[in-house]
Amino acid sequence: MAMTDGPRGLARGLTNYGDADFALYLRRSFATSMGYSKAMLARPVVGIAQSASGFNNCHRHFPELIEAVKRGVLAAGGLPLDFPTVSLGEVFLTPTSMMFRNLMAMDVEEMIRAQPMDAVVLVGGCDKTVPAQLMGAASADVPAVQLLAGPMLPMAYRGELLGACTDCRRFWAKYRAGGVSAEEIERIEENLATTAGTCAVMGTASTMASIAETLGMALPGTAAIPAVHADRLRAAEASGRQAVALAATRLRPSQIITRHSIENALRVLLAIGGSTNAVIHLTAVAGRVGVEVSLRRLNALSDETPVLVDLKPTGQHYMSDLNAAGGLGAVLRELSPLLHLDCLTVTGQTLGERLAAEGGWVDRDVVRPLADPYQKVGGLAALFGSLAPGGAIIKRSAADPALFEREGRAVVFTSLDDLSARIDAPDLDVRPDDFLVLQNAGPKSGYAMPEAGYLPIPAKLARAGIKDMVRISDARMSGTAYGTIVLHVSPEAAVGGPLALVRNGDRIRLSVTDRRLDLRVEDAELARRRASLPRPAPPPARGYGKLYMDHVLQAEHGCDFDFLRKA
Ligand code: FES
Repeated sequence: MAMTDGPRGLARGLTNYGDADFALYLRRSFATSMGYSKAMLARPVVGIAQSASGFNNCHRHFPELIEAVKRGVLAAGGLPLDFPTVSLGEVFLTPTSMMFRNLMAMDVEEMIRAQPMDAVVLVGGCDKTVPAQLMGAASADVPAVQLLAGPMLPMAYRGELLGACTDCRRFWAKYRAGGVSAEEIERIEENLATTAGTCAVMGTASTMASIAETLGMALPGTAAIPAVHADRLRAAEASGRQAVALAATRLRPSQIITRHSIENALRVLLAIGGSTNAVIHLTAVAGRVGVEVSLRRLNALSDETPVLVDLKPTGQHYMSDLNAAGGLGAVLRELSPLLHLDCLTVTGQTLGERLAAEGGWVDRDVVRPLADPYQKVGGLAALFGSLAPGGAIIKRSAADPALFEREGRAVVFTSLDDLSARIDAPDLDVRPDDFLVLQNAGPKSGYAMPEAGYLPIPAKLARAGIKDMVRISDARMSGTAYGTIVLHVSPEAAVGGPLALVRNGDRIRLSVTDRRLDLRVEDAELARRRASLPRPAPPPARGYGKLYMDHVLQAEHGCDFDFLRKA
């Protein structure tokens, strides 16, 4: 595909002075002040959207990574110009990084569009940064390639490997149950996240990296390369080179992110035992190109897509093991009978051409064959019923099947504050077979749908050895967590969804087999409760908080803003 549309390089998108020649003259003059020669300024421009930040440990190697991207761009004949965007360091933001994903997506979109670039390299990794960059790039629709941060390495500690963040939760649960001392948990705190890069397991960041590669937006074989591996720098250089090629071919995100590539990404999400968050993010990315992701379709795919990858929190290994086992390509090759192989990737090849050209090395301890999977059905299932008319999600691959078909008594927490005030109270009326219910933690709750769905086991039950219970909320859950946890209940409590009507002692029926979640309370009683629901708190009067509250959509629409989705 030859480029035919409009001016190139620095002549793109001129600043408005009412005199185009003057605007170009002025721009070149000011660009010259940065020390570039005329020959350099005549090259195609590759923007590098970079999200390094002192508040983002996962991106601390980005300066070196971006140097390698620039090397690749220069070697291929382009002019690399990096620019900062919002950065979202998962654990440094309040109320939650999720609230700011759309802000970053808007920043990425607008800066790609407003600045003169022929192509862009999106450099991101931590949970929300990759979906934000994909959403922004899809809407801007300038040729783009995604370079991922890569996962952290797990490190040996007293005879076992530790890696963020499944092990963080495992040890915290032990500490709460009295099995680990205060001194020991301090030592463990220092040994969970020890290198640059994203969480070491198949959490949200690794899931979104796998999705970026499956969609075709990241170079083949790059999703799982550890952040500190020299191959990550070579991937950066190659991404820079590819961006220059994209500047010539004009292959756009809207040609790569399509209904078929999104379905491929859903298949991979299911086959890797990926994060529940990725359902929301992929739905939001799809919404930017006008594609709806249906939770009922997710269920149909889940029934016929087995879990092939043995990674924490579903299995045993770390993301670096997946890289050594053959990377995401090994998973894609196994899944290929189920994939749309005609989808284009940033290289210009189709997915099928890519997979046909790859070698066959696979470590079967980590990536299982399609005929002998790790688990027979996909890692996620959507639930529907009177408690979740708009749907809910359970990560069945990381849950206890013994809890999948049962009815339980609701123990209700009306907010996150109520949860933290009462969950460990000695007089809490709770039994192991109860269902813990958290209300008012959804997108419009004022907490912006935090990763609070992994409700802690009440201390008195944890000390008695209880490790899992059915937990239900309109919140999200970290991709690194595990348990029989029902999330994303929609409509959420804060907008008057049925979740708001649950009271202590109600009976709730969960059936993962039937994909049902039902509140067993008479309609008349529910109507009475609805009439006495408190009025919602007034939304913020100004700023991003107001924009967020006025426009954020429910989980099944990806929590995007209504005005950012493609009609
Ligand atoms: Fe950044 Fe987990 S905190 S990926």
